[in-house]
Amino acid sequence: MKVLVIGSGGREHALAWKLSQSPLLTKLYCAPGNPGMAELAECVNIPADSIGPLMTFADREKIDLTVVGPEDPLAAGIVDAFADEGLLCFGPNRRAAELESNKAFAKNLMKKHGITTAPFQVFDALDGAKGYIESSQPPIVVKAYGLAKGKGVFVCSNRGEANRAVDIIMKEGVFGTAGDKIIIESCLSGPEASILAITDGSTIIPLPTSQDHKRAFDSDRGPNTGGMGAYSPAPVITAQLGNAIEREIIVPTIHAMKREDRPYSGVLYAGVMITENGPSVLEYNCRFGDPETQPILMRLKSDLLAILHAATLGELEKMQVEWDPRPAVCVVMASGGYPGKYEKGKVIEGLDEVGKMPQVQVFHAGTAVKNANVVTAGGRVLGVTALGDTLSGAVDLAYEAVEQIGFEGAHYRKDIARRALHT
Ligand code: AMP
Ligand code: GLY
Repeated sequence: MKVLVIGSGGREHALAWKLSQSPLLTKLYCAPGNPGMAELAECVNIPADSIGPLMTFADREKIDLTVVGPEDPLAAGIVDAFADEGLLCFGPNRRAAELESNKAFAKNLMKKHGITTAPFQVFDALDGAKGYIESSQPPIVVKAYGLAKGKGVFVCSNRGEANRAVDIIMKEGVFGTAGDKIIIESCLSGPEASILAITDGSTIIPLPTSQDHKRAFDSDRGPNTGGMGAYSPAPVITAQLGNAIEREIIVPTIHAMKREDRPYSGVLYAGVMITENGPSVLEYNCRFGDPETQPILMRLKSDLLAILHAATLGELEKMQVEWDPRPAVCVVMASGGYPGKYEKGKVIEGLDEVGKMPQVQVFHAGTAVKNANVVTAGGRVLGVTALGDTLSGAVDLAYEAVEQIGFEGAHYRKDIARRALHT
């Protein structure tokens, strides 16, 4: 099979790495890809959101399956456009991807179908939102309704902060049309976990649990980032809790989408908070998590290509999926300054040495090649991922690898998975 992976981050490198091991694969392309992916695949210089050119390429090269990494092309309808051309593309179509791209839709779906989520109200005008804040008890959570690159959520400890968040989203229009509506919801508390499942709309294959680390600095301090590291499994999700989440959240969501005439196929990612009253959905994503996918795929023993192909064809019921019971940990190495301003073009040392370490994979997230050197080219630069016999073994191995890699200004958290080591 000829396969095209769309995207250029750590998640897409992990997808390409696993797909490249498939006996069904004859040729792997990535668009646009990155230097890590270029070691496994032919990279073509088409941006991930250029649906027309991607379609022309897939048509010309007779691509059998396209796997989309990021949410933007899914929200823009890449799966629909490919389907119109008779091209197979793994992921939800535009209407189904609204689970992520339209938080008002997602919240109303949960309310209507009895899926637990924080109580909320949706507003499309400033005055209504601010009036509601006056009558709410802080802390208050304010969210832009559309795609905001993970930055559209404000957890506010008082009304002043909440009003400010409304201004940022609606008055200043920092998130563009993603701020045309606002969701104001109650603030929940408890540990969070990422629950992912692959589905063809009927059969659901849950992936192992995972947890990411959104804040930039140790002990969950500092600004939110795309994710500074992840581990799988997440011990906070016991087998019993995992079953409850599948029964009370994942299955009803897929069923609800069918009932709403938006059958969901692809990977469903539920961000779940374990509150004292049980699991509650914080958000849905319509794609693989980044960096959660890196440790999850390290643990996949089955053929990813066969699974994604079956899901796209509606034949997932035929699949048996096997997982490595060993835990995996991914430590993200970022550019100094990220998620704020940072410099690019720093030479990365040590990749060859770490490339020889067994049970370690370095996934490229923001790299480029300059004068035959691999250099930094993004905020999140590398996802150094390791498997271990125990979680602490995986943590030690990941950090052993991280310490052999260097670039000017490199920043990484020293406490990835520490939470899980103490539960
Ligand atoms: P989201 O993008 O909706 O997952 O939100 C980003 C982060 O904001 C989550 O991972 C939580 O840490 C936090 N968050 C979102 N909604 C709530 C809520 N209702 N209560 C408390 N924290 C929340
Ligand atoms: N790691 C969070 C996300 O992928 O949205």
